[in-house]
Amino acid sequence: MTDSAPILVTHDGPIATVTVNRPDALNALNRETLLGLRDAIGALRKRANLGCVIVTGAGDKAFVAGADIAAMSSMSREDALAFAELGQSTFALLEGLPVPVIAAVNGFALGGGCELALACDFIYASSHAKFGQPEVKLGILPGFGGTQRLSRRVGLGLARELIYTGKMLGPEEALRVGLVNAVHPHAELMAKTLEAAKAILAAGPRAVAAAKQVMNAGADLPLTSAIAKEAEAFSRCFEAPEQREGMGAFLAKRAAKFEGR
Ligand code: HXC
Repeated sequence: MTDSAPILVTHDGPIATVTVNRPDALNALNRETLLGLRDAIGALRKRANLGCVIVTGAGDKAFVAGADIAAMSSMSREDALAFAELGQSTFALLEGLPVPVIAAVNGFALGGGCELALACDFIYASSHAKFGQPEVKLGILPGFGGTQRLSRRVGLGLARELIYTGKMLGPEEALRVGLVNAVHPHAELMAKTLEAAKAILAAGPRAVAAAKQVMNAGADLPLTSAIAKEAEAFSRCFEAPEQREGMGAFLAKRAAKFEGR
């Protein structure tokens, strides 16, 4: 990995930070960048003791300003399908990582950039962030999952309005509608995101992974099937040392020490 690679990954103990690194193009996603992201996620999956992943954009201006419009401009229908499928499968891999993934949105998160943030478990935004799905202004529609994930995050009515008009939301509005969990002063975004990651690391890693798995699997199921999965996963905790350590520590009035942390 060189500093000019389109995806950079750094590690701070169990926290990995993945940075989309094409600041001259506001981190726009071309095929090479998506392949780099796919490889980076594959490598993270194999990493022992990974606890949390942060996704952000290089530079001061953008998280990701969308899929690369120059690259898309000459695509055939077949090229466009392959490109959409590459982005969708890469974002599904990110969403399916067994640890929480936090998007630290440090600027424009437009089109494919908003879709990338939506594939993360939750979003922290800087006071400079701007969100939107402006694809219809280019004569296309969201193709990396936005037509489905945006409405699941903010509701169908608002998702329709944002996708049909292409209008942008500032950070406070994004907070008000539940697209982001918190807005932080620009200079504090990474520190605040690391704080959230560290709070996750203090919890039982297998319990967190199981909660993520159940929430993701249940999102597409009827409630009765989804909560049956929850009960199953809840009961499996009682066969693992984490539950004995977590409850034992509470009862002994000491801090829990989970295996792998
Ligand atoms: C390629 C991009 C880009 C993009 C910005 N750049 N966004 N290049 N694809 N999505 C490039 C610009 O061409 C420019 O390059 C440099 O980054 C700086 O951008 P400027 O436009 O000069 O900056 P500014 O005036 O501050 O405007 C910022 C901006 C604007 C509002 C974010 O760049 C913008 O509207 N970008 C496009 C946003 C968009 O429509 N995204 C959705 C794409 S479609 P040069 O070389 O001139 O310096 C999409 C589909 C996803 O995402 C699904 C696919 C299957």
